Amino acid sequence: MDGIFKTPMLGNQDPADFDAVYEPAEDSFLLLDMLEKDHANLMAINPCICLEVGSGSGICITFLAQIVGRSVTYFCTDINLKAVEMTKATAHKNGRSVEPVLCNLADALEHRLEGKVDVLLFNPPYVVTPSDEVACDGIEASWAGGIKGREVTDKFLPKVASLLSPEGAFYLVVIKENDPDDIEELMKGYGFRMKCVGSRRAGREFLSILRFTRQSSRVDTPL
Ligand SMILES: C[S@@+](CC[C@H](N)C(=O)[O-])C[C@H]1O[C@@H](n2cnc3c(N)ncnc32)[C@H](O)[C@@H]1O
Repeated sequence: MDGIFKTPMLGNQDPADFDAVYEPAEDSFLLLDMLEKDHANLMAINPCICLEVGSGSGICITFLAQIVGRSVTYFCTDINLKAVEMTKATAHKNGRSVEPVLCNLADALEHRLEGKVDVLLFNPPYVVTPSDEVACDGIEASWAGGIKGREVTDKFLPKVASLLSPEGAFYLVVIKENDPDDIEELMKGYGFRMKCVGSRRAGREFLSILRFTRQSSRVDTPL
């Protein structure tokens, strides 16, 4: 990345740690680039609480902490214990404080954070795979998305409305096969409008970052 904010250093001890935790790739870097591009909108929200679901190495939540600043609480979750540990180490290495929680989606935080999350991130397992490959821990949980690559994403989308604050924004990583138009329709039903804040081809994947805000939100300045 050649923006004004530095890509976080990663908290792994050894390259082999990435046998167990998702190593940041084009999808992660596109999310970082689009958060940076959307910086003015992020600051306009005046965030108090940010949450990343599926933090992996911790690169995205740490980057968000770098660009949004210190007087904010950063929560994140992962279903993979090694990812939770690496996220803590990544944040620490970059002088940031995050609260990683081992749980499915945002299950352990839903009650506590109801209506309070100002910035929500999810780079889900989005690869199209047979349903029986959708994993519940370990490195396989990083990519296996089941039918249309949507099985994990679709479990989370109905929870977004209860987590997000009135002006909150939700950033979701998708590929073309996930059918972004269908996700837009689904989220419209929950009261959100969608904007594609950026796309990039990476090998066989056509990646996009979708941003959802409530239909009543004022966050919509042109990028
Ligand atoms: C594509 S990786 C993204 C990692 C990191 N956010 C990044 O962008 O580099 C997806 C992450 O989601 C986690 N994950 C998958 N299913 C999950 C679930 N049901 N609940 C919480 N985390 C999950 C995986 O363990 C993995 O760390």
